[in-house]
Amino acid sequence: MTVVCSTIATLKVDLSKITASVGFVPTMGALHQGHLSLIDRARQENGCVVVSIFVNPLQFGVGEDYLKYPRDLESDRQVCQDAGVDIIFAPPPEEIYGQKPITQVIPPPSMTSGLCGRSRVGHFTGVATVVAKLLNIVQPHRVYLGEKDGQQLAIIRHLVRDLNFVTEVVGCPTQRSHDQLARGLALSSRNQYLNSEQLIIASSLYQSLKLAEAAFQAGEKDSHVLISLVKSSLSPQIDLEYVELVDGETLQPVTWVETNSMLAIAGRVGNTRLIDNIVLQIEG
Ligand code: PAJ
Repeated sequence: MTVVCSTIATLKVDLSKITASVGFVPTMGALHQGHLSLIDRARQENGCVVVSIFVNPLQFGVGEDYLKYPRDLESDRQVCQDAGVDIIFAPPPEEIYGQKPITQVIPPPSMTSGLCGRSRVGHFTGVATVVAKLLNIVQPHRVYLGEKDGQQLAIIRHLVRDLNFVTEVVGCPTQRSHDQLARGLALSSRNQYLNSEQLIIASSLYQSLKLAEAAFQAGEKDSHVLISLVKSSLSPQIDLEYVELVDGETLQPVTWVETNSMLAIAGRVGNTRLIDNIVLQIEG
């Protein structure tokens, strides 16, 4: 039976009864197979799984979709129950940000000035702040995050190291659509905003990354060539925000594929902003 806690105090009471290792999956809800892959991994590696469901106001900018972000706690609770989650932490915003003004956690500007951070100013401060708070509240042995949000994953790895959190960060592979219409599209809560025509268009994000990956596997390592390939194969109906090749850890642009490079893309289909990435790895 999955327990739902909406306050830090009740969560602490439940956590105090747990002696097993705690695996933590922070989410904003509207759970899909991507989230479930994190939950399954946490289930395999820990005696207790905690999932947070919190649409974090601090990481949404003006004009972004904070108010319309999909929220359905009852359906998420059922998904968690079926997946064997022990505890859901689903606080209201006042529980997390009640005491104002709040202290915020600012990641290194070098990690937030590019990629999504260029258009989403302040977004990663919002993410880092809530993740730091959640890690302090839950105090998990391991925290599970998706590679789909590659910039977020790198920033949280950095945060955990720099602020000496005693938790292991586990990055999990991106889960993709198997649907005929949208084959390969990275699963995202925001895919709900897309109609069937837009789903087809959106899947070109991944297809263009795969084309660059094939060129890389055939020996191409020049970032300009790989980026041009992505751009030229992308559906013209995608309003491209960026395609960048960066180091997967520092997020700094690279001119050639190095040991751990991330080819990342963001674009809009209609009003929906979507992101994706693939890691191009040179075997050490
Ligand atoms: P959310 O978008 O709900 O994602 C929660 C976690 O699920 C993140 O670690 C994300 O990378 C992972 N995820 C999403 N789609 C995925 C997919 N297709 N495959 C694998 N993993 C996937 O990311 C957030 O929430 C928030 O920023 C949060 C970290 C909870 C802080 O508020």
